[in-house]
Amino acid sequence: MIDTHAHILAGLDDGAETMEETKRMLEKAVDEQITGIIATPHAHHPQFKTDLAALHEQLAATRSWIAEQQLPIQVYSGQECRLSEKLPEQLKTGQALSLAESRYVLLELPSSGIPAYTVQIIQLLISSNYVPIIAHAERNQGIIQKPERLERLLRHGALAQVTAGSVAGSFGKAIQKTAMNLIDANLIHVYGSDVHHLTKRPFLFNEGLDYLEKKKRHEVVDIFLENNERIVRNEHLYVLEPQDIPKPKWWNIFE
Ligand SMILES: [Fe+2]
Repeated sequence: MIDTHAHILAGLDDGAETMEETKRMLEKAVDEQITGIIATPHAHHPQFKTDLAALHEQLAATRSWIAEQQLPIQVYSGQECRLSEKLPEQLKTGQALSLAESRYVLLELPSSGIPAYTVQIIQLLISSNYVPIIAHAERNQGIIQKPERLERLLRHGALAQVTAGSVAGSFGKAIQKTAMNLIDANLIHVYGSDVHHLTKRPFLFNEGLDYLEKKKRHEVVDIFLENNERIVRNEHLYVLEPQDIPKPKWWNIFE
Protein backbone atom coordinates (compact mmCIF):
# COMPACT_ATOMS: atom_id res chain seq x y z
CA MET A 1 0.00 0.00 0.00
CA ILE A 2 1.20 3.47 -0.92
CA ASP A 3 0.56 6.57 1.20
CA THR A 4 0.35 9.60 -1.11
CA HIS A 5 0.49 12.41 1.45
CA ALA A 6 2.87 12.52 4.43
CA HIS A 7 4.89 15.10 6.34
CA ILE A 8 7.55 12.65 7.48
CA LEU A 9 10.76 14.45 6.53
CA ALA A 10 12.36 16.18 9.51
CA GLY A 11 12.66 19.89 10.18
CA LEU A 12 11.07 21.16 6.97
CA ASP A 13 7.50 22.18 7.86
CA ASP A 14 4.87 21.40 10.52
CA GLY A 15 5.53 17.64 10.22
CA ALA A 16 8.30 15.59 11.83
CA GLU A 17 10.70 17.79 13.78
CA THR A 18 13.66 15.44 14.16
CA MET A 19 15.13 12.42 12.37
CA GLU A 20 14.14 10.34 15.41
CA GLU A 21 10.50 11.25 14.77
CA THR A 22 10.91 10.38 11.08
CA LYS A 23 12.26 6.96 12.08
CA ARG A 24 9.37 6.23 14.49
CA MET A 25 6.87 7.30 11.82
CA LEU A 26 8.46 4.97 9.27
CA GLU A 27 8.34 2.07 11.75
CA LYS A 28 4.67 2.80 12.34
CA ALA A 29 4.06 2.90 8.57
CA VAL A 30 5.66 -0.54 8.23
CA ASP A 31 3.35 -1.77 11.05
CA GLU A 32 0.40 -0.44 9.06
CA GLN A 33 1.60 -2.49 6.04
CA ILE A 34 2.43 0.64 4.06
CA THR A 35 5.14 -0.25 1.53
CA GLY A 36 5.71 3.19 0.04
CA ILE A 37 5.30 6.76 1.25
CA ILE A 38 5.38 9.86 -0.89
CA ALA A 39 6.91 12.52 1.34
CA THR A 40 5.01 15.76 0.72
CA PRO A 41 6.41 18.69 2.69
CA HIS A 42 4.70 22.00 1.94
CA ALA A 43 5.87 23.99 -1.08
CA HIS A 44 5.50 27.77 -1.24
CA HIS A 45 3.08 27.78 1.71
CA PRO A 46 2.64 31.22 3.34
CA GLN A 47 3.79 29.82 6.73
CA PHE A 48 6.36 27.21 5.71
CA LYS A 49 9.21 28.11 3.42
CA THR A 50 10.52 24.64 2.64
CA ASP A 51 14.17 24.76 1.68
CA LEU A 52 14.67 22.44 -1.30
CA ALA A 53 18.30 21.66 -0.53
CA ALA A 54 17.24 20.64 3.00
CA LEU A 55 14.41 18.54 1.53
CA HIS A 56 16.80 16.58 -0.72
CA GLU A 57 19.22 16.16 2.19
CA GLN A 58 16.45 14.79 4.46
CA LEU A 59 15.22 12.50 1.70
CA ALA A 60 18.72 11.05 1.21
CA ALA A 61 19.27 10.63 4.99
CA THR A 62 15.87 8.94 5.38
CA ARG A 63 16.50 6.57 2.48
CA SER A 64 19.92 5.57 3.76
CA TRP A 65 18.49 4.85 7.25
CA ILE A 66 15.78 2.66 5.65
CA ALA A 67 18.44 0.77 3.68
CA GLU A 68 20.59 0.34 6.80
CA GLN A 69 17.63 -1.03 8.78
CA GLN A 70 16.43 -3.06 5.79
CA LEU A 71 12.90 -1.77 6.36
CA PRO A 72 10.40 -2.98 3.73
CA ILE A 73 9.35 0.53 2.73
CA GLN A 74 10.30 3.09 0.09
CA VAL A 75 10.15 6.86 0.38
CA TYR A 76 9.38 8.84 -2.77
CA SER A 77 9.89 12.55 -3.35
CA GLY A 78 7.01 15.00 -3.54
CA GLN A 79 5.50 18.18 -2.18
CA GLU A 80 2.12 19.58 -1.20
CA CYS A 81 2.11 22.54 -3.55
CA ARG A 82 0.24 25.68 -2.62
CA LEU A 83 -2.00 27.11 -5.32
CA SER A 84 0.01 29.66 -7.29
CA GLU A 85 0.22 30.80 -10.87
CA LYS A 86 3.98 30.20 -10.68
CA LEU A 87 3.46 26.50 -9.96
CA PRO A 88 3.81 25.11 -13.53
CA GLU A 89 7.11 26.97 -13.90
CA GLN A 90 8.29 25.90 -10.42
CA LEU A 91 7.54 22.26 -11.29
CA LYS A 92 9.41 22.49 -14.58
CA THR A 93 12.51 23.97 -12.95
CA GLY A 94 12.46 21.63 -9.94
CA GLN A 95 11.58 24.40 -7.46
CA ALA A 96 8.46 22.39 -6.63
CA LEU A 97 8.16 18.60 -6.80
CA SER A 98 5.44 16.43 -8.28
CA LEU A 99 4.43 13.15 -6.63
CA ALA A 100 7.12 10.48 -7.03
CA GLU A 101 8.45 12.30 -10.13
CA SER A 102 5.16 11.56 -11.92
CA ARG A 103 2.79 13.86 -13.82
CA TYR A 104 0.64 14.10 -10.65
CA VAL A 105 0.88 17.20 -8.46
CA LEU A 106 -0.61 17.44 -4.97
CA LEU A 107 -2.34 20.82 -4.98
CA GLU A 108 -3.21 22.59 -1.74
CA LEU A 109 -5.99 25.18 -1.71
CA PRO A 110 -6.51 27.55 1.22
CA SER A 111 -8.81 25.68 3.65
CA SER A 112 -11.17 28.69 3.80
CA GLY A 113 -12.44 28.22 0.24
CA ILE A 114 -11.67 28.03 -3.47
CA PRO A 115 -10.04 31.18 -4.88
CA ALA A 116 -11.46 32.49 -8.17
CA TYR A 117 -8.23 31.75 -10.06
CA THR A 118 -8.17 28.04 -9.11
CA VAL A 119 -9.63 26.88 -12.45
CA GLN A 120 -7.08 28.96 -14.34
CA ILE A 121 -4.20 27.32 -12.46
CA ILE A 122 -5.66 23.86 -13.03
CA GLN A 123 -5.80 24.65 -16.76
CA LEU A 124 -2.21 25.95 -16.72
CA LEU A 125 -1.04 22.74 -15.03
CA ILE A 126 -2.94 20.52 -17.45
CA SER A 127 -1.54 22.40 -20.45
CA SER A 128 1.94 21.80 -18.98
CA ASN A 129 1.17 18.04 -18.87
CA TYR A 130 0.64 17.87 -15.11
CA VAL A 131 -2.44 16.49 -13.38
CA PRO A 132 -3.36 18.36 -10.21
CA ILE A 133 -4.78 16.35 -7.31
CA ILE A 134 -6.70 18.52 -4.82
CA ALA A 135 -5.41 17.66 -1.33
CA HIS A 136 -7.97 16.95 1.43
CA ALA A 137 -10.92 18.25 -0.62
CA GLU A 138 -13.31 17.27 2.19
CA ARG A 139 -11.67 19.80 4.56
CA ASN A 140 -12.12 22.81 2.29
CA GLN A 141 -14.87 25.13 3.61
CA GLY A 142 -16.05 26.01 0.10
CA ILE A 143 -16.47 22.32 -0.76
CA ILE A 144 -18.07 21.46 2.61
CA GLN A 145 -20.71 24.16 2.00
CA LYS A 146 -21.22 23.27 -1.66
CA PRO A 147 -19.69 19.95 -2.81
CA GLU A 148 -20.58 20.78 -6.44
CA ARG A 149 -17.63 23.18 -6.36
CA LEU A 150 -15.28 20.19 -6.37
CA GLU A 151 -17.09 18.67 -9.33
CA ARG A 152 -16.43 21.89 -11.28
CA LEU A 153 -12.67 21.60 -10.60
CA LEU A 154 -12.75 17.96 -11.74
CA ARG A 155 -14.48 18.95 -14.99
CA HIS A 156 -11.40 21.06 -15.73
CA GLY A 157 -9.15 18.02 -15.33
CA ALA A 158 -8.24 17.96 -11.63
CA LEU A 159 -8.51 14.87 -9.42
CA ALA A 160 -9.06 14.78 -5.66
CA GLN A 161 -7.56 13.17 -2.58
CA VAL A 162 -9.20 12.39 0.76
CA THR A 163 -7.41 12.22 4.11
CA ALA A 164 -7.58 8.89 5.95
CA GLY A 165 -8.33 10.62 9.28
CA SER A 166 -11.31 12.46 7.77
CA VAL A 167 -12.85 9.13 6.74
CA ALA A 168 -12.00 7.62 10.14
CA GLY A 169 -13.81 10.51 11.88
CA SER A 170 -10.89 12.23 13.60
CA PHE A 171 -11.82 15.66 12.16
CA GLY A 172 -15.44 15.37 13.35
CA LYS A 173 -18.77 14.15 12.01
CA ALA A 174 -19.33 16.97 9.49
CA ILE A 175 -16.02 16.35 7.69
CA GLN A 176 -16.54 12.58 7.81
CA LYS A 177 -19.98 13.06 6.24
CA THR A 178 -18.56 15.36 3.54
CA ALA A 179 -15.82 12.82 2.83
CA MET A 180 -18.35 9.99 2.42
CA ASN A 181 -20.66 12.11 0.22
CA LEU A 182 -17.75 13.05 -2.07
CA ILE A 183 -16.59 9.42 -2.20
CA ASP A 184 -20.12 8.17 -2.99
CA ALA A 185 -20.40 10.74 -5.80
CA ASN A 186 -17.11 9.39 -7.33
CA LEU A 187 -15.40 12.74 -6.74
CA ILE A 188 -12.42 11.27 -4.85
CA HIS A 189 -9.70 9.23 -6.54
CA VAL A 190 -6.71 9.09 -4.21
CA TYR A 191 -6.12 8.32 -0.52
CA GLY A 192 -3.46 9.72 1.83
CA SER A 193 -2.74 9.96 5.53
CA ASP A 194 -1.47 13.57 5.70
CA VAL A 195 0.44 12.31 8.75
CA HIS A 196 2.28 15.07 10.64
CA HIS A 197 3.04 13.42 13.96
CA LEU A 198 2.68 9.98 15.57
CA THR A 199 0.05 11.01 18.12
CA LYS A 200 -1.18 14.54 17.32
CA ARG A 201 -1.76 13.94 13.58
CA PRO A 202 -1.28 10.16 13.14
CA PHE A 203 -1.53 7.99 10.00
CA LEU A 204 -4.99 6.46 10.65
CA PHE A 205 -4.38 4.82 7.25
CA ASN A 206 -5.97 1.49 8.14
CA GLU A 207 -8.63 3.09 10.37
CA GLY A 208 -9.95 4.98 7.33
CA LEU A 209 -9.87 1.87 5.14
CA ASP A 210 -11.58 -0.16 7.90
CA TYR A 211 -14.36 2.43 8.11
CA LEU A 212 -14.92 2.21 4.34
CA GLU A 213 -15.00 -1.60 4.53
CA LYS A 214 -17.44 -1.45 7.45
CA LYS A 215 -19.68 0.81 5.36
CA LYS A 216 -19.43 -1.73 2.49
CA ARG A 217 -17.46 0.58 0.17
CA HIS A 218 -15.21 -2.34 -0.84
CA GLU A 219 -14.76 -1.16 -4.43
CA VAL A 220 -13.72 2.31 -3.21
CA VAL A 221 -10.94 0.78 -1.12
CA ASP A 222 -9.69 -1.17 -4.15
CA ILE A 223 -9.77 1.92 -6.39
CA PHE A 224 -7.97 4.14 -3.86
CA LEU A 225 -5.18 1.63 -3.28
CA GLU A 226 -4.84 0.91 -6.99
CA ASN A 227 -4.70 4.62 -7.88
CA ASN A 228 -2.11 5.28 -5.18
CA GLU A 229 0.08 2.61 -6.82
CA ARG A 230 -0.55 4.01 -10.28
CA ILE A 231 0.71 7.46 -9.21
CA VAL A 232 4.08 5.96 -8.29
CA ARG A 233 4.14 4.18 -11.68
CA ASN A 234 3.03 7.42 -13.44
CA GLU A 235 0.08 5.63 -15.03
CA HIS A 236 -3.46 6.84 -15.76
CA LEU A 237 -5.73 6.69 -12.72
CA TYR A 238 -8.98 4.81 -12.47
CA VAL A 239 -11.75 7.45 -12.61
CA LEU A 240 -15.49 6.76 -12.36
CA GLU A 241 -18.20 9.02 -13.79
CA PRO A 242 -19.28 11.62 -11.17
CA GLN A 243 -22.71 10.98 -9.66
CA ASP A 244 -25.18 13.38 -8.02
CA ILE A 245 -24.17 14.45 -4.55
CA PRO A 246 -26.80 13.39 -2.00
CA LYS A 247 -28.86 16.41 -0.86
CA PRO A 248 -29.08 16.81 2.92
CA LYS A 249 -32.40 15.48 4.22
CA TRP A 250 -34.29 17.56 6.77
CA TRP A 251 -34.21 14.74 9.32
CA ASN A 252 -30.39 14.65 9.06
CA ILE A 253 -29.99 18.28 10.07
CA PHE A 254 -29.95 17.37 13.75
CA GLU A 255 -27.48 14.47 13.43
FE1 LIG B 1 -0.53 17.96 4.19
